[in-house]
Amino acid sequence: MNPEPSSPLNQEEAPAPMWLIVVFSLLLYAGFLYLDQNGGGFSPQVYAPYRDLADLKTYQPSRGGDDIIRLGEQRYVATCGQCHQASGLGAVGQFPPLAGSEWVTESDPARLIRISLHGVQGPITVKGQEWNLVMSLNATSLGIADKDLAAILTYIRQAWGNKAPAVNVEQVQAVKDETKGRAVQWTTGELNAVPLKK
Ligand code: HEC
Repeated sequence: MNPEPSSPLNQEEAPAPMWLIVVFSLLLYAGFLYLDQNGGGFSPQVYAPYRDLADLKTYQPSRGGDDIIRLGEQRYVATCGQCHQASGLGAVGQFPPLAGSEWVTESDPARLIRISLHGVQGPITVKGQEWNLVMSLNATSLGIADKDLAAILTYIRQAWGNKAPAVNVEQVQAVKDETKGRAVQWTTGELNAVPLKK
């Protein structure tokens, strides 16, 4: 089965003429040029919103009040945490716990703000356990700013499994106004007489 040397098949196998290769190369070049100019390229728009790490952060879902919680934790550790501990567990016989404490998680923070501003002394029951000490330092003596105290209280009401509404700076200031002139620690008798909002 020898094909005839002059068959059309042999003619088709002949090398492509040089002019055709040049034309194809030019077309290819023009094609890339066109894509470069009209394609998406590396326009930052295409890759938005993730242009860089800082950018990415701004798009990350943030729970409401994350900054307040972070500020509150940092201020708590530097102040109240000296006694009540970073863990909120307090110390046996010395400092009662804030984690799980009913004084911390009461929905109206009127008593909690009073304790924080002036301290508490004498018998107090926390999670069924009786303490009888004096809270000698407080937000007033420690010079904690109102907005920092609001952040601290919001933090301790939502840390360690505690679940209570945030405390805002207006609530702190309102209690400050109501208790103007107070210097000594509260007793639980006085605290229990404070009317609470439901
Ligand atoms: C110098 C140590 C000390 C510091 C600082 C301190 N406390 Fe106390 N705190 C105590 C002691 C002691 C008691 C218990 C007082 C008693 O027996 O009547 C107490 C009681 C409490 C109570 C009521 C009981 C409980 O465990 O829930 C709360 C709430 C509280 N403190 C919150 C705070 C907050 C908020 C701060 C920071 C603004 C703070 N404390 C700073 C020592 C401290």
